[in-house]
Amino acid sequence: MSQLSLAVDVAGLRLRNPVMNAAGVLGMSHSLLRRIYEGGVGAVVTKSLGPEPRHGHSNPTLVTVEGGALNAMGLPNPGAEYFIDTIRALNGDGIPVVASFFGASIADFRDVAVVLSEAGADALELNCSCPNVEEELSMLGADPGNTEKVTAAVKEAVDKPVLVKLSPNVTDIAEIAVAAERGGADAITAVNTLKGIAVDVDFRRPILTNVTGGLSGPALKPVALRCVWEIHKAVEIPVVGCGGISDWRDAVEYLLCGASAVEIGTAAMKEDLDVYGKVANGIERYLESNGFKEVKEIVGLAHEA
Ligand SMILES: Cc1cc2nc3c(=O)[nH]c(=O)nc-3n(C[C@H](O)[C@H](O)[C@H](O)COP(=O)(O)O)c2cc1C
Repeated sequence: MSQLSLAVDVAGLRLRNPVMNAAGVLGMSHSLLRRIYEGGVGAVVTKSLGPEPRHGHSNPTLVTVEGGALNAMGLPNPGAEYFIDTIRALNGDGIPVVASFFGASIADFRDVAVVLSEAGADALELNCSCPNVEEELSMLGADPGNTEKVTAAVKEAVDKPVLVKLSPNVTDIAEIAVAAERGGADAITAVNTLKGIAVDVDFRRPILTNVTGGLSGPALKPVALRCVWEIHKAVEIPVVGCGGISDWRDAVEYLLCGASAVEIGTAAMKEDLDVYGKVANGIERYLESNGFKEVKEIVGLAHEA
């Protein structure tokens, strides 16, 4: 019998395999999150939840572009309190839950984290790329000081692993990751979407109502891999890679660059939900055919080449 194991421990979050869904890309009902788990993820990641219900931007909020998609959803969500029952139901199914969250102020971030943690989330993913933050957190995703402050406030309030999810729209992402680590982050998720614009030449105006949107999908992958590479070199805590993963080869690239686990978003919009399981199986075959027994043996290996 093979002794190979796909199980990973990401900062105390124990997963049957290193593949998760990326926050927000699919819906967030209990039944859909359960189907995502049945599709093969090690844990389900929720859409980002805030302190209040939020409609998000008006349509169009999503446009496909060469190599991916641009979206400006505007963080629509039912609010953290509303989601408590869903977390409990997922707990009842034995499904590990990573609750993604955001706020406009430090108090918001802390309060939402407490609600989700007490509801039973196994880990929290702090979304640093949120718009409309208040003065005290201005430029959150691009400001090391504010990233450290908000991470520290959340870590003081909850005893669950906190993954801090970073934006690639910064000059030096390693500096922001180091700040999150200083604030007590247990892991870094890299990355959220890359800011872009698509224009309708007939109407001669931007396609998205919000004008700008976030680029996801294969076009994002080289940028996201570079971010994971730089962060892995800069911090001691684990990194979760995200951006443009469509198949197991993409996922293995992330592991080799230093990710301990990965998240898949846009690929699941056009493939069946079994994309997660296919990627996990592909990682397993790769480990087996190269004589490795555990995922962690290949994490960061490309740095040693
Ligand atoms: C439609 C859509 C909605 C998203 N919503 C969220 C969200 O609520 N919170 C978050 O942290 N990231 C959100 N993201 C970003 C993804 O989680 C992920 O970081 C990004 O899409 C890159 O991964 P991918 O190329 O595999 O999609 C969203 C992306 C898309 C396309």
